[in-house]
Amino acid sequence: MTVPFLQVENLTKDFGGLRAVEDVSFTIDRNEVVGLIGPNGAGKTTLIRLLMNILKPTAGKVTLKGEDITGQKTAKIVNKGMASTFQVVKPFRHLPVAANVMVACLSPKTKRKGEWVKTVELRALDALEFCGIADLALEPASVLSHGDLKRLELARAIATEPELLLLDEPFGGLSPAETTLVAGSLRRLHKGGRFGRLHSEGPAMLIVEHKLSELMKIVDRVIVINFGKVIAIDVPGNVVKNKDVIEAYIGKGGK
Ligand SMILES: Nc1ncnc2c1ncn2[C@@H]1O[C@H](COP(=O)(O)OP(=O)(O)OP(=O)(O)O)[C@@H](O)[C@H]1O
Ligand SMILES: [Mg+2]
Repeated sequence: MTVPFLQVENLTKDFGGLRAVEDVSFTIDRNEVVGLIGPNGAGKTTLIRLLMNILKPTAGKVTLKGEDITGQKTAKIVNKGMASTFQVVKPFRHLPVAANVMVACLSPKTKRKGEWVKTVELRALDALEFCGIADLALEPASVLSHGDLKRLELARAIATEPELLLLDEPFGGLSPAETTLVAGSLRRLHKGGRFGRLHSEGPAMLIVEHKLSELMKIVDRVIVINFGKVIAIDVPGNVVKNKDVIEAYIGKGGK
């Protein structure tokens, strides 16, 4: 039997009396791009934070490449090949853009290689170039526009050369033109090849997005959650026709 690349089992998170994520189970294969959608407050960001152990689950299990990573330190999880971007971008505003990316890859794994400074610099520049902001490498992050900050956030995550990349609203606040550009970058990244010295294969992806028409073009499958619970897991063509999904978005009796 083959082991799923990522396996999430019965993941649950309570904030006091609020169950933000309830009994969520799914798997992601090594070569998949999966969407994670649901109305505002459904628990998408919480779920990503649980996977990275930025938040500790109340119950449930996360297995990456057959290894139980539940409760492991976030830096260790990044070393094992899973990285994420955040919905709210918070760079070190006074540090240069390149330094912001380098900080993201200063893991013990890279240091053990000996030439870690050079490796980290190269990775950072590769990532910035891939995201189209290499010309801003020496600028402080504080001068970046919202669109460029979103690209910096993507660069930070891909510089760690993940095998599975979790993206929380990569198109959030972007213009239609910027959205198309970033969607193209994600497709190229997934295909692999040009970017990444260590992995010739691009990463698998779990993408949270409200811009559904753009998202549906790049995903193989979609997970839909509502009030913390999975209500559908299916291919895009079926998800958009699913009665429970339509009801979650429009509401019972909605027009
Ligand atoms: N740290 C926290 N403490 C208490 N409640 C929280 C916390 N973080 C999130 N919540 C609550 O958990 C629920 C899920 O929030 P979450 O941010 O995961 O939703 P989301 O699906 O990402 O929404 P959006 O689409 O608006 O980003 C919400 O009711 C939210 O208010
Ligand atoms: Mg969110």
